[in-house]
Amino acid sequence: MVRASTSPLSVVPNDLEPYWMPFTANRAFKARPRLIARAKDMHYFTTDGRKLIDGSAGLWCTNAGHNREPIVEAIQRQAAELDYAPAFQFSHPKAFELASRVAALAPGDLDHVFFCNSGSEAVDSALKIALAFHNVRGNAARVRLIGRERGYHGVGFGGIAVGGIVGNRKMFGALIAGVDHLPHTYNRAEQAFTIGEPEWGGHLADELERLVALHDASTIAAVIVEPVAASTGVLPPPKGYLQRLRAICDKHGILLIFDEVITGFGRLGHAFAAERYGVIPDMITFAKGITSGSVPMGGVLVRKGIYDAFMRGPKHVIELFHGYTYSAHPLACAAGLATLDLYRDEGLFERARKLEAPWAQAAMGLKGLPNVLDIRTVGLTVGIDLASKPDAVGKRGFEAMELAFHEQDLMIRGVGDTLALSPPLIISESQIGEIFDKVGKIIKAVA
Ligand SMILES: Cc1ncc(COP(=O)(O)O)c(C=O)c1O
Repeated sequence: MVRASTSPLSVVPNDLEPYWMPFTANRAFKARPRLIARAKDMHYFTTDGRKLIDGSAGLWCTNAGHNREPIVEAIQRQAAELDYAPAFQFSHPKAFELASRVAALAPGDLDHVFFCNSGSEAVDSALKIALAFHNVRGNAARVRLIGRERGYHGVGFGGIAVGGIVGNRKMFGALIAGVDHLPHTYNRAEQAFTIGEPEWGGHLADELERLVALHDASTIAAVIVEPVAASTGVLPPPKGYLQRLRAICDKHGILLIFDEVITGFGRLGHAFAAERYGVIPDMITFAKGITSGSVPMGGVLVRKGIYDAFMRGPKHVIELFHGYTYSAHPLACAAGLATLDLYRDEGLFERARKLEAPWAQAAMGLKGLPNVLDIRTVGLTVGIDLASKPDAVGKRGFEAMELAFHEQDLMIRGVGDTLALSPPLIISESQIGEIFDKVGKIIKAVA
């Protein structure tokens, strides 16, 4: 039996076996655990006392850095003051304050916020709002949802249906009906080693016209895309692509949803990627960075016209039959408010914008190392494609992630054979150098 902790306070032996870990190679983990005991700013500390630099902001979420005092204190104060208020028919003041603050950060008339607890819930909420919106406006035939190949929209049934990652879909039956997919936007021959948005690929948005011709616009409710497809290995949008999607959706009365669970809250140097690309979607889903990962929270920003469409009928009647016990949980709202204060007071979105060029330059320094097939950067993210080992897809990426943790004191993500990095936005230029130095050593070690 491998012990996770040797705390004298543990009455029950701390066996690693009972916990079925999510999206994890459980047997490999339990044979050689990667356990984290605490964190501060840019660093994690392992249970055996090592200090790791965080190259992935946890899971793309701790944008303000770890265990920041103002966030910790806000959570502590909130826990002592109000643990919970019913989310249905009752609420608490910080829910409204946070909704106002998030709306103020969003572009255009994206000015109402529906809260939930994760990115997956945000996506399923947005898809349901899209269907219900057309329904309340008398267009009940608009039921089709369009996602994109290689898209990641969490793990709810709606999210995996519109998502385009084979492994996340193939075991789970028929998913939901009436879903179609745009092609993904990656083409290595045309785009390899691009910094930022590739020149090639904007025309792929026109594939939406093909789907409209196939299904007819009158049956399509919404299109959902990540502005940058991050979880699949960081695929920045080709120049003009998102703008073209917007134009086609407008032409056909189709709602456009940006899934900004990763791109929101500074990852691309702006509050939302919508701002970077000058495109106003009809809804934005968010999670992760809203609380800098400290308390689970997600949400959907909707344009005024969508909210208003529901606000009719008798006033005592619930307008949208959807919500979660923990929508706008007091702890999450307190953490969210403190996090937004930190982003503002420390200028972290601007900081990300300034660091984008040195980050990209350091990342591209890995070009030419063994097995490096492509490097893509945008904002403070990078995807580094490594050649797969013969007959063992994903093994090189897995070994790199393990070696990073155990031997290079670095936290990165392995997505198949792609290494994905997205540091907290508080990273310094010297820490950027340190991280890519380590990544270079790791790539050589797994050659
Ligand atoms: C774009 C996007 N949508 C949704 C999700 C799901 O979020 P969660 O894991 O909080 O459910 C993720 C998670 O990485 C994501 O990247």
